[in-house]
Amino acid sequence: MAAVERFDFLVLGSGIAGLFLALKVAERGRVAIITKKQSADSNTNWAQGGIAAVLGKDDTLESHVRDTLEAGAGLCREEVVRTIVEEGPEAIFELVGYGMKFDEMEVADAAGRREPHLTREGGHSKRRVLHYRDMTGREVERALLAAAARQPNLRIFENHVAIDLITTRKLGLGGEDRCLGVYVLDRCAGGVSVFEAPVTVLATGGCGKVYLYTTNPDIATGDGVAMAWRAGVPVSNMEFVQFHPTCLYHPKAKSFLISEAVRGEGGVLKMPGGGEFMERYHPQKSLAPRDVVARAIDSEMKRTGADFALLDITHKPAPFIMSHFPMIYETCLRYGIDMTKEPIPVVPAAHYQCGGVVTDVNGRTSLAGLLAIGEVGCTGLHGANRLASNSLLEAVVCARRAAKVALEQAGQSWTGTIPPWHTGEANNADELVVVSHNWDEIRRLMWDYVGIVRTNKRLQRAAKRLANLQEEIQEYYWNFIVTSDLLELRNIATVAELIVRSALSRPESRGLHYNLDYPEADPAWAQRDTVLLRGEVSKFAATGRAG
Ligand code: SIN
Repeated sequence: MAAVERFDFLVLGSGIAGLFLALKVAERGRVAIITKKQSADSNTNWAQGGIAAVLGKDDTLESHVRDTLEAGAGLCREEVVRTIVEEGPEAIFELVGYGMKFDEMEVADAAGRREPHLTREGGHSKRRVLHYRDMTGREVERALLAAAARQPNLRIFENHVAIDLITTRKLGLGGEDRCLGVYVLDRCAGGVSVFEAPVTVLATGGCGKVYLYTTNPDIATGDGVAMAWRAGVPVSNMEFVQFHPTCLYHPKAKSFLISEAVRGEGGVLKMPGGGEFMERYHPQKSLAPRDVVARAIDSEMKRTGADFALLDITHKPAPFIMSHFPMIYETCLRYGIDMTKEPIPVVPAAHYQCGGVVTDVNGRTSLAGLLAIGEVGCTGLHGANRLASNSLLEAVVCARRAAKVALEQAGQSWTGTIPPWHTGEANNADELVVVSHNWDEIRRLMWDYVGIVRTNKRLQRAAKRLANLQEEIQEYYWNFIVTSDLLELRNIATVAELIVRSALSRPESRGLHYNLDYPEADPAWAQRDTVLLRGEVSKFAATGRAG
């Protein structure tokens, strides 16, 4: 008989959004954080750049709003952008309250205070990115996990993998559909338990592992989007996958990001054996918005046959480089590259999911009892392309707001009994090859057919191949004992399908979605989100952007 764990709040994921919300609601109820590996294994932990917020003396909220709308290429929800930008500074002060440190200016002002050091990233017209060296995410995790350890109401279940949301509809019950909790696999002990709570929060991050090359950690398998989708919750704008232009190119380096802040502090892109090239693509050159830079590198690599581009910051003094980018410097050095003396070889890689589970700015989804915050959600902040360092900002502002909603919903308890998990009993080691083969095949086909530059033919080929793979995965899923690898494979297959379907539904190029068959943005498609609902054909909803 499977165990049943009962809490007031379930939080799936231990990145900035999940931890921040958990800390807030733990003041009023018992919280379980379910995390697939160790507590610090999250996209947040790998974030280098920082958190964008208007704190500079020469900066304005209006300017941050404008830059965000500009990057979003017509698809941002302006009211959401304004709310998140306006509440950014307060959220930052709360992070500091939890013990988070940010870099400060070397020189104090007349009153002896040190202002935060603000760096610059692509698409920002001002310096507005708060950071802790080049390891902001690691510092966020350190501070929030330390605060969590001091909170007696909060329990973290490491090595626990969420399988599926439990909803009244799935249990065949009438009335309004609502989320009752989640089935969870204990990776170490092997059993599946019921975790029950009036409020479940998806804070599972993004889906970089859907692609062969990614800057994301191994946990980024789109679990939240896939679970919400299976529960009948709408998912939006999945065609907008952000490729970061500069991931370290080295045969032994896996997923190592070279922060955009390197370009923000003067780094310049070049091609091997050639010179700078970005002036041919955008007036902001190496600091152009990410979609432009990623496509420019992709195009130069294809044109010249080069395997990588180069990022050169050697014109800056070595002590400056080593103090601003200590982790990048050390990591490159380990791979034999001294970035103070030679340019860094870089390639684009999948980095951020701009779409996700449809939510409002408070994390509310269409399913009662289910909230979604951080990268897993689609609030409308990013539109068709995310402005650098707006994601940690969105995560913390929306977590703060969603905590209030969670507290309101916590009283709505359910008194029925949730049936235990049933799975196939077979354990056939020979078939494990199906999991590893299909995993590799999906990631490669997504990279080759659904990458930075798309065509209808490639997208259709990907759709066909994915349909076959999904059939095999489903068969395997029903017949064999579930493992975390199988669960992740099922999720990446679902998310891959959603990306392809969304991409096929948008007959234009906009922001991060670039299709050679329709190379221009079509004004008729401006202000329309792609909304997918299980069992229905694609729909489009107005983004509600003003102006
Ligand atoms: C970076 O440091 O380049 C990543 C920042 C971001 O993705 O927002």
